[in-house]
Order: sequence, then structure tokens, then C-alpha cells
Amino acid sequence: SIQSNLKGKKILITGGPTYESIDPVRFIGNHSSGKTGVILADECANRGAAVTLVLGPSIHSPLNPAVNVIRVTTAADMFKVVQANWSDSSIGIFSAAVADYRPANMAIEKIKKKSDEMSIDLVKNPDILAWAGTQKTSKQYLVGFALETNNEIENARGKLDRKNLDLLVLNSLRDKNAGFGYDTNKVTFIKPNNILINFELKQKSLMAKDILNEIETDFTA
Ligand code: PMT
Repeated sequence: SIQSNLKGKKILITGGPTYESIDPVRFIGNHSSGKTGVILADECANRGAAVTLVLGPSIHSPLNPAVNVIRVTTAADMFKVVQANWSDSSIGIFSAAVADYRPANMAIEKIKKKSDEMSIDLVKNPDILAWAGTQKTSKQYLVGFALETNNEIENARGKLDRKNLDLLVLNSLRDKNAGFGYDTNKVTFIKPNNILINFELKQKSLMAKDILNEIETDFTA
């Protein structure tokens, strides 16, 4: 078989949710299982790339022992690891579902039940993918994901441009058996110059091959 042009290339992947602590027993999170990041990491390693997977809380782990897995909990942790690893990576694939906000203060003690209503002050988390986009050189290739519920294509195009991406993998919560947790996903690739490629519902392992095939075709550095 033809050798992959990803062989020996450093690839940085994010996956899974982030958990943002409210108090010692509670957090703000989301339904990402981490499967997508783990499957992408395995596919990259199987093609001979040097993979670092920055993985939020997930019960999944890569099968390929060559994957360097760095486990993180919060968006701030994930951001630190990405900041330390992006400049010497050739390719970034950011599939994590990062919490956009975190509690302004984590309570030291468990918050007690009191009045009928309560609220928590939130502050914005860094946009990790957008940061990588601002740092990207002409030799680097950056892939983002977008999970949308409405105006999918329009919102995704906005993310591609704003975050300076080479490829955006769009999935919709409106598609059955797609997105969080499932073993399958249905995606659309969005690329600069209005290029749009639709895929059928398929196993996430096969989706990962589609993504890596696209990167192999585009990546020439
Ligand atoms: O883990 P699974 O159960 O397999 O589920 C996979 C998935 C549904 C989580 C995945 O396919 C997916 O869509 N991931 C991105 C989900 C998301 O948070 O999308 P978004 O539109 O909010 O973010 C857009 C992009 O910016 C993503 O690449 C995200 O990683 C990145 N981002 C967002 C916010 C932030 N603070 N930092 C980021 O890096």
C-alpha cells in the first residue's frame, strides 16, 4: 500500500467534554463521550503519525499504545496543554466539546440547599481552537468540529472563517444517531472557497477515515 504522508507528522487532537467545577461535588459539563477524539487518535497513529490526544473526562482510551494521551478536566487545563503543543504540531484536529463558560468562583464547600431560586455567575472560557487559528502558520493544517442545532451550514461557515480553519466537520443534533455518544455520525465537510461535501450516516471509525483521507489529500507541507 502507498505510505501515508502523515507518517512521522505530529498531530494534536482534542476530544471529550470539559467539566467546570461549581463546588467539590458538582460541575457544568456536556454529553460528549470522547469517542470521536479517541477514534481519530487511533486512526492517525495507525497511519504512522505521532499523536498527542488531549482528552477530557471520558471512559474511552485509544487502542493504539503509540498515542500519547494527556487527560484533562477543565477547559483551562485543555488550553494549557494545547498552548504547549500546537507550535510544533503539523496538524490539529479539535473535536472536544469545550464548555464555553465556567463558574466565576468554585465554592470550597458543598453548596447548601436554601432559597427556591439560586444562580451561579459564569465567566467565559478561552476558545482553544480560535487561539490555535490565530497562531497557525502556512505549514500547519487545522481542523475544527461544529455541533449545531439550526442554521447549520451558515453557522459552520462562520466558524471556519472566524477560527481560520482549513476544514470544519459539521454534525447536527437534528440527525438521528449522530453527534454525542453514538457509535455513528453524519457529517458535512466545510472548506474555504465554499466547498461542501456531504457524507452518509456511518460508523465513527469510518468517519475518522474520511477526515484523515481529506487531510492526506490537502496536506502537502
Ligand atoms: O465525543 P462524542 O460523544 O463522540 O461526540 C462527538 C462530538 C459531538 C462532541 C463532536 O462530533 C463535535 O461536534 N465536537 C465539537 C462540539 C462543539 O463544542 O462544537 P462547537 O460548535 O461549540 O465548537 C466549535 C469548535 O471550537 C470545536 O472544534 C471545538 O472543539 C472548538 N472549541 C469550542 C469552544 C472552546 N472554548 N474551545 C474550542 O476549542
